[in-house]
Amino acid sequence: MTNILFVSSSPRGAASQSTKVAEQLVAGIRAEDPSATVTRRDLARHPLPHVDEAYLGAVFAPAETHTPEQTKLLALSDELVAEIQAADVIVIASAMINFTVTSQLKAWFDFIARAGKTFRYGANGPEGLVTGKRVVVVEAKGGIYSDGPMKPHDYQQPWIRFILGFLGMTDVEIIQVEGQAMGPERAEQGVAEAAEKAGATARALVGRRAAA
Ligand SMILES: Cc1cc2nc3c(=O)[nH]c(=O)nc-3n(C[C@H](O)[C@H](O)[C@H](O)COP(=O)(O)O)c2cc1C
Repeated sequence: MTNILFVSSSPRGAASQSTKVAEQLVAGIRAEDPSATVTRRDLARHPLPHVDEAYLGAVFAPAETHTPEQTKLLALSDELVAEIQAADVIVIASAMINFTVTSQLKAWFDFIARAGKTFRYGANGPEGLVTGKRVVVVEAKGGIYSDGPMKPHDYQQPWIRFILGFLGMTDVEIIQVEGQAMGPERAEQGVAEAAEKAGATARALVGRRAAA
């Protein structure tokens, strides 16, 4: 059975193309594999707090000294980490806001990056501990960043790839929904290309899991 973790993060609600294409991808996986389960984390509707002094105090304090507030803050991080650890496939819908991920998605990564749980520093430097996952990221953006003059200013895709790899998730596919602020025609083209890729990705993912 495939456990899917579906993380969405666009503040644009029902208008979000990253969420819509990611929904299609998840539906495609479930069409191929009806036994697949889905855990949803809607970070825009249910935002996480920011990592702050209270949280960092909890992370670094010995367990026996934790206050009820520190226990609560760590329980949230533990729950998010448990969700990624339990998933076989992680689908992340990411809207580009001011050239990078939303603060909601950044907060999620801040809570799942836990020294000793999801990464550690060893003799050979950092080692990601979240291994064996297949990750698909659906990124929606107003402009075109895959090629052309804006390419160096995509701070969404390189960062997502890097932080996932830092945590051990290296089997990553990215589906881009580009040109969403470039007029209806270009926007539709971006959605159609991404939807097609989502369908193919769903079939390939289920095929690969069946063959494994
Ligand atoms: C506040 C705001 C900031 C944005 N910043 C950028 C940006 O820096 N670059 C860009 O290409 N598009 C930008 N956009 C356009 C969004 O990336 C685009 O609408 C995309 O479809 C958002 O993803 P979503 O459809 O999943 O919500 C911005 C949109 C909003 C609302």
